[in-house]
Amino acid sequence: MYKILTLNNISVKGLERLPRDGYEVASEIGHPDAVLLRSFKMHDWKIPTTLKAIGRAGAGVNNIPVDKMSKLGIPVFNAPGANANAVKELVLAGMLLAARNLLPAWQYVNNLSGADSEISKQVEAGKKQFVGYELAGRTLGVIGLGAIGVKVANAANALGMNVIGYDPNITVRNAWQLSAHVKQANSVEDMLSQVEFLTLHVPFIDATNNLINQERLQNAKSGLTILNFSRNGIVNDVAVSEAIKANIINGYITDFPNSLLIGHERVVALPHLGASTGEAEENCAIMVAEQVRDYLENGTIKNSVNFPEMKMPRTKEGNRLLVVNANVPRMIERISATIANHNLNIMDMLNRSRGDVACTLVDVDNEIPQEVVDSLIATEGVLTVRTKLR
Ligand code: 3PG
Repeated sequence: MYKILTLNNISVKGLERLPRDGYEVASEIGHPDAVLLRSFKMHDWKIPTTLKAIGRAGAGVNNIPVDKMSKLGIPVFNAPGANANAVKELVLAGMLLAARNLLPAWQYVNNLSGADSEISKQVEAGKKQFVGYELAGRTLGVIGLGAIGVKVANAANALGMNVIGYDPNITVRNAWQLSAHVKQANSVEDMLSQVEFLTLHVPFIDATNNLINQERLQNAKSGLTILNFSRNGIVNDVAVSEAIKANIINGYITDFPNSLLIGHERVVALPHLGASTGEAEENCAIMVAEQVRDYLENGTIKNSVNFPEMKMPRTKEGNRLLVVNANVPRMIERISATIANHNLNIMDMLNRSRGDVACTLVDVDNEIPQEVVDSLIATEGVLTVRTKLR
């Protein structure tokens, strides 16, 4: 039985991918083999010695100590793209909220009172305060053209907007998905000088910390509205708040409220709703549960943020061994020598590496004795060893 600990609510549809005859899943469970989580902050969490895998039912992994996990030989899986449509729709909603002054207009109506004929008069008298503009013909800048950014760019283009993208690391796959109408910016500054809306879809890493800051905002085209459905810290909130006050930019729509932003006249702060749709929660949970299961049962690695991709077909006869080790010379030699010293015949073998981590899958023709595991564990550079994967 594999034990799976959930550190946040994970959609039942995903948990159903872990069959009850092989998995015990609970929000409180000792000695977990894997954890599934969403935004739970794992940085100060005590890592159980039994932990073999982490599944982030979402995209961002800044709540997980990924480097520490790599050193422990634990893969971190996420669900890239699984909530992209939900985020895309919220970005469109954000632009519409801003362009049509919908929140102040809604507040205006909520404060009306009196007989219906009186309300009707106030409606007609008041509406001129909320005259907005249309998105078609306006320019949107998208920083980060991953699964979400590409969807946002294409949807905005379909609404008749001019779209400019910026992503020095765009993948070939995402480039294929991107509408040919999306123009390319040479830099963030170049983009800021041209756009009425700016949306960010990048992970929170050193390179994106404070990406939109006071200096860059000096280049902003007048009337700019910024949308941050990525992460707190990518946009400098103080700089944005000052730029709004100084009329350098028009407004800020963010999924990451704080005391500075709450109640700010031209800020709409939402409670981290980007991926909060039933569909996205299901998609993320299913994707990540399947990936964690395939890793626990077969050593397959797909959509890991710190481990190499790997998959080796299974045969009925083979007994599988998974070794996670430091990516240094002579590891394969040591692993195969240990196996050979115990008179096991290697039927199939696969080795993949990524950064400092390497993984080796070996199928052998006989039961793998504990001594093999013990001597592999004792081998310099070996981080984890697993047998009886099924
Ligand atoms: C993500 O990184 O996938 C989103 O920010 C969603 O986070 P959540 O799963 O906590 O809603």
